[in-house]
Amino acid sequence: MKTVSRFLEPEPPARVQITFEGAPLMVPEGANLAAALLGAGVEVFRHSPASGAPRAPYCMMGACFECLVEIGGVARQACMIEVAPGLEVRRPALAGAAGGAGTVGGANAVGAAGDA
Ligand code: FES
Repeated sequence: MKTVSRFLEPEPPARVQITFEGAPLMVPEGANLAAALLGAGVEVFRHSPASGAPRAPYCMMGACFECLVEIGGVARQACMIEVAPGLEVRRPALAGAAGGAGTVGGANAVGAAGDA
């Protein structure tokens, strides 16, 4: 049965390829990266530098930093990034401060991956 309004039948977003820890994933373009990774089955985004415990997104609004991932060598909050084709996402290294090897960049960091 055809619905009256086209808004009731939104087209699904195009899927684009990104990688997580080198493994290819097809995720919705423009989606929230944390949500897209969770939807693709990624359960561990990083490990606690203090205890090594697995961590995953919690607040989904940029407050807790539990979703830190490394994109282009920079630690970023996955919940503040839009999916773009070709993103290469890794777990941050354990060494160093809370963000691992990279520098923490905010959602508005200039030239950061995912901005375009
Ligand atoms: S899930 Fe809390 S900052 Fe991303």
